[in-house]
Amino acid sequence: MPNPDYAIDQMISAKSIAARVETLAKEITSYFNDTDKLIVVGLLRGSFVFIADLAREIDLPIEIDFLEASSYGNSMESSREVKILKDLAGEISGKDVLVVEDIVDTGHTLKHVLQLLESRNPKRIEACALLDKPSRREVQIKSRWSGFEIPDEFIVGYGIDFAQMNRNLSYIGKVRFK
Ligand code: PRP
Repeated sequence: MPNPDYAIDQMISAKSIAARVETLAKEITSYFNDTDKLIVVGLLRGSFVFIADLAREIDLPIEIDFLEASSYGNSMESSREVKILKDLAGEISGKDVLVVEDIVDTGHTLKHVLQLLESRNPKRIEACALLDKPSRREVQIKSRWSGFEIPDEFIVGYGIDFAQMNRNLSYIGKVRFK
């Protein structure tokens, strides 16, 4: 049922996402081609759709794990605190790790998560984000792969929510308030 307060305009189609996911998975497969096992870590909740599609296209032995982080803004947005709400189930010391994020906005979440996981001494750790909003960046982050660069729009779908809704859209849409 359509929401009376806003409409959603398609921004990136399911077909374009699928094509990009396939390319990213090929690059990831080639980068980690000598691994005995790749631990693919999804950041909850937004990455759950992307990780499901990406993981099925990666042609390597993989293990899936999840981590949930939440960022709390205080009066200064640039001094956000990132809190770990759910940690990984498994160990990553000496392992190859790929962190999968739906969107990099200010960069605080990914920066904090990468710092935390790097402190556990993985063999290699890289990140892959489906969407990137470079105009919103507040901190430098190291993400080797990025699906699409997008402008600073209010987006939903393919795992991303608006007040916890619309995560199940198969495409990325732009919210337009009526
Ligand atoms: C969103 C998104 C990223 C983060 C990006 O998560 O999924 O994890 O914000 O923002 P940043 O680059 O400014 O840190 P959110 O906290 O909305 O949780 P969700 O994944 O459960 O939707």
